[in-house]
Amino acid sequence: MPAYTRHLFICGNKRADGHPRGCCDPSGSAELRDAFKKELARAGAGPLVRANGAGCLDQCEHGPVVVIYPEGIWYGNVTTADVPRIVARTVLEGEVIDELVIADECLNNPSCPHRAPAN
Ligand code: FES
Repeated sequence: MPAYTRHLFICGNKRADGHPRGCCDPSGSAELRDAFKKELARAGAGPLVRANGAGCLDQCEHGPVVVIYPEGIWYGNVTTADVPRIVARTVLEGEVIDELVIADECLNNPSCPHRAPAN
């Protein structure tokens, strides 16, 4: 089987209330992952596009977080309302939705100003 043309990882990490870094799925419902799976099926994205739930992607302060490969497009503060446009524009068309992108100065940066200080 050929490689996936697009592979989405949707953080579904749940932490205890009050954790300094927060988490992407405080309810533990996997609602965002399920919304992607549903929308991909509805859009007929086909077998070479896959959405997987993921553990913490270490961008918690920008959650809920979704990363899309092979490009490595990191989206933050993603809601279920964003899912149709992400599927239509990014997954199917390859367009980056700028307003959802996690800023370069924040991505994978332990000194990101949004990150809670380590205890
Ligand atoms: S809890 Fe989602 S990136 Fe850390």
